[in-house]
Amino acid sequence: MYNKEDKILIIGAGGQIGIELAQELSLLYGSSNVIAADLNPIPALDVNPFEKLDVLDKDALLNIVKKHGISQVYLLAALLSATGEQNPMFAWKLNMEGLFNVLDLAKEKHISKVYWPSSIAVFGPTTPGINTPQYTIMEPSTIYGISKQAGERWCEWYYHKFGVDVRSLRYPGLIGWKSAPGGGTTDYAVHIFHQALKNKTYECFLTENTALPMMHMEDAIRATIEIMHAPSEHVKIRSSYNLAGISFTPKQIATEIKKHIPDFTISYNPDFRQAIADSWPKSINEDKTKEDWGWLSKYELSSLVENMLTNLA
Ligand code: NAD
Ligand code: SER
Repeated sequence: MYNKEDKILIIGAGGQIGIELAQELSLLYGSSNVIAADLNPIPALDVNPFEKLDVLDKDALLNIVKKHGISQVYLLAALLSATGEQNPMFAWKLNMEGLFNVLDLAKEKHISKVYWPSSIAVFGPTTPGINTPQYTIMEPSTIYGISKQAGERWCEWYYHKFGVDVRSLRYPGLIGWKSAPGGGTTDYAVHIFHQALKNKTYECFLTENTALPMMHMEDAIRATIEIMHAPSEHVKIRSSYNLAGISFTPKQIATEIKKHIPDFTISYNPDFRQAIADSWPKSINEDKTKEDWGWLSKYELSSLVENMLTNLA
């Protein structure tokens, strides 16, 4: 439930999701009640209190929580799929130890609620790739996916064992105009808009028919805020909920962009991210998510493209 008394800490607030999430939570709670923490200052969030924090420093984290009387933590600091494959041991360390540090704060009753995002990367090449259900084969083939799958199991375990109120969504690739993506395989679907407007051409690092689930950032932020404010008994899944978003290929998004920029051209030069994309589902089933806490997305491909081009222009 929404409680104006809550004090919120966003860790990794300077990233693609963090900037937009901090802005939306500030509208609900007041900017002074939303504390932005990251490795470096965040110019886009200059109205929020800022704390320089390495989430791996458990003592520093506890000090910040005590200093501000934090009640809820949104943990966004992580390495994503592409950067994670390039630095696998550090990706494992950051993605797991950061999560433990935050879950332990809740276990020790310093905070009352945790949000931690998972990803479509929890699925792998043996997962049924079309309309992927909530419960299915999960054999991720990236370190990022392995860390997200393990994180889901740990979240559920902390919930059952210690009553930690942790909530999570398996985001698809996220597309927004207010912030830049931070090293994922789905980043092409943001870069393409910037290049279309600037140069009217884009070289994509995935092949033309690589379908992936994606979502407008506005929908993702709303889903995050809705699950965090849903009555506890409605949040029946404490690992992570599927989110479907919209599934499309680079060719399909390029075709949609051409409706607005007729001379836009796209070429394809797949790199190591192709193998990551090939291991992920093409489309996701979110029936359980709708059923449990009433999720409904807003954006279709055409409205997403129109929104991105209008705002970036
Ligand atoms: P991002 O890379 O854009 O931002 C991460 C932020 O964390 C950065 O500002 C970075 O400086 C900060 N950070 C890194 N190490 C830190 C540390 N040790 N201590 C404190 N801060 C640190 O990532 P994002 O896209 O905003 O993703 C946030 C979360 O959402 C991640 O867990 C990611 O796996 C998940 N997610 C993102 C997407 C997506 O498409 N963006 C999709 C699925 C899941
Ligand atoms: N957008 C993310 C990535 O590509 C998916 O979790 O890594």
